Amino acid sequence: MANLADSYPSTWHLAARAKRRMPFFAWEYLDSGTGMERLVDRNRAALDAVRIVPRVMQGRYTPDVATRLMGRDYAVPFGIAPVGMSGLMWPGAENMLARAAQTHSLPFGLSMVANETPEMVAGHAPDMTWMQIYPPREADVLDDLLARVRAAGIDTIIVTVDVPVGSRRERQLAAGLTVPPRMTPRTFWRVAKRPHWALATLHYGQPRFRTLERYFPAASMKEAAKLIGTIVDGRPNWDDLDRIRAGWEGNLVVKGVLHPADAEKVIAHGADAIWVSNHGGRQFDGAPAAIDALPGVVKTVSGRVPVLFDSGIRGGLDILRALALGADFCFLGRAFLYAVAALGDRGADHACTILRQDLENNMIQIGARSIADIGGRVIIDE
Ligand SMILES: Cc1cc2nc3c(=O)[nH]c(=O)nc-3n(C[C@H](O)[C@H](O)[C@H](O)COP(=O)(O)O)c2cc1C
Repeated sequence: MANLADSYPSTWHLAARAKRRMPFFAWEYLDSGTGMERLVDRNRAALDAVRIVPRVMQGRYTPDVATRLMGRDYAVPFGIAPVGMSGLMWPGAENMLARAAQTHSLPFGLSMVANETPEMVAGHAPDMTWMQIYPPREADVLDDLLARVRAAGIDTIIVTVDVPVGSRRERQLAAGLTVPPRMTPRTFWRVAKRPHWALATLHYGQPRFRTLERYFPAASMKEAAKLIGTIVDGRPNWDDLDRIRAGWEGNLVVKGVLHPADAEKVIAHGADAIWVSNHGGRQFDGAPAAIDALPGVVKTVSGRVPVLFDSGIRGGLDILRALALGADFCFLGRAFLYAVAALGDRGADHACTILRQDLENNMIQIGARSIADIGGRVIIDE
């Protein structure tokens, strides 16, 4: 294969290859939003509308993209957002991403409903694994999960609060996505057309909910999916957050905040960081673009805790935009899975490299020398 940097210079190039390698139902699961998918478009359009006026004649320098967050040093100001069922996108995706995260010194958020365990992933990324949870209803499940995460040496949990209930995800429904995949002639045909994915799945085994399956050991995949629904479908409230805070002494990040008043409450309930996100447009199609909600949260938080950001980021320029609007750190969900589905292990590594290069290049374009040097340069003049 030709040089990766030339063949896949951006995450858009990786997405195009991923689409050709994944079965249709898996692609639809990864790529879709919900409803009319206006929010997916809005996230993108609002990011594109953020303009930064370059400062010129800054001379020759290499920008310093390293940053510190919640007591840890990271080589870059971005990480991998938690993505459920990553193993359906590409078998072993979680392990590939974890290894790349460790190599590139950036955080990897393992979803509670991904297909690998915190124990396994922390083995690949001992310093870089964060664990995402949906507040489980059962107290003993929560206690056990937190104990496992702690024992695996993970010091940061992400509590996702923007899924009060599953969204409808019409594109996924229409694609016939079921867990486990139902082997209808249509599914069979779709898998047969993607031989690399099919072989990798044969080799690795069907995706399983490995983190959660110990809580229902005898269940089939189908029953497991239902049981997970009951564990996860908590319609969480502030007491749930207090319960988690009381049981977790490490860093606690609350993910899925858009409203400044919620940001204020999240701080009052003891979070160590706030993650501004609309779940990549997958939950409520009527929400504002996450980048439009960011400045309000940043203003309210006013430096008391770090503000993290995701939803719509596809390149280094988007990271620069979010940092310029006050985010301390950014995450990407789909882009990293496109990379792994496109190129496996090499894809995870390559995505980290091109995102870093794109960020560095754009920092030089505007004359920024460090992450701290990025803020306060934005104009939005739509
Ligand atoms: C296929 C898919 C599955 C996801 N699963 C989870 C999940 O299990 N937990 C979670 O907190 N967020 C989940 N998210 C949301 C991501 O963490 C992140 O907020 C979102 O992908 C950011 O938008 P982006 O994909 O445009 O970067 C998922 C996103 C996608 C695309």
